[in-house]
Amino acid sequence: MHIAIIMDGNGRWAEQRGLNRMAGHKAGARAVRRVVEHAARTGIDCLTLYAFSSDNWSRPREEVKHLMRLLKRYLLSEISRCIENGIRLNVIGRRDRLNPEIVSIIEQAESLTAAGSRLLLRVAVDYSARDAMARAAHEPCRCAGEPSAQTGCTDRDCFGRRLAAAIHATAPAGDVDLLIRSGGERRLSDFLLWESAYAELVFVNTFWPDFDELALDAALNEFRRRERRFGGLPQERKRNQRFAGQDAIV
Ligand code: FPP
Repeated sequence: MHIAIIMDGNGRWAEQRGLNRMAGHKAGARAVRRVVEHAARTGIDCLTLYAFSSDNWSRPREEVKHLMRLLKRYLLSEISRCIENGIRLNVIGRRDRLNPEIVSIIEQAESLTAAGSRLLLRVAVDYSARDAMARAAHEPCRCAGEPSAQTGCTDRDCFGRRLAAAIHATAPAGDVDLLIRSGGERRLSDFLLWESAYAELVFVNTFWPDFDELALDAALNEFRRRERRFGGLPQERKRNQRFAGQDAIV
């Protein structure tokens, strides 16, 4: 089970309280802690959180600095908690535009938590799905088979592996099963576009700092009510078709 979350609404949460946006992000970081711990208890295999999109670089300098500081503090303070709880950390996205100090903390966090097998926690930073796909398309193909000279490699698994390499994925995450967006907006904002091909989408109005264990459970319950067909037929119709086929043979 892979859950991905677009954590939206920090700014509006703060605004409602007469606080500045930074206070909203700080409260958002507290929500991250709650949700990660709950996800680990709930038996989710992988949780991917959208912490900073490549387009977020266009925000005011102070806000970007604050978000980077929060991320650094989060990684440093969570390493031991992750180790204790069997959580493996992986920061996905580009690293060439991050401060070298943050890159070194990321590498440290990833290597110290690498043995975690209970939950794979992926935090997306300087992440853009389209940028990742464009870069993966230019990665050399390492398929065993011969790619066609005209089209290049069109093997989906091979592309998936190149995509994983382009975003510094350290462990296989699989496709997204459930994608949640908080904050009331209904869009994907360049997040995990390839991996979410058959994800169930759940949009909630709650601003991210108020998102808690109950909100995650509610999204999971909504997910369980959905029938996933992956382009096939609904279970009921599949059964009827089988019977119709048997009649024809008899
Ligand atoms: C979107 O809300 C949220 C972000 C751009 C940043 C998300 C960051 C955190 C939740 C905290 C730091 C993360 C970690 C992993 C420690 P917004 O600012 O666009 O809100 P708005 O739409 O209400 O303005």
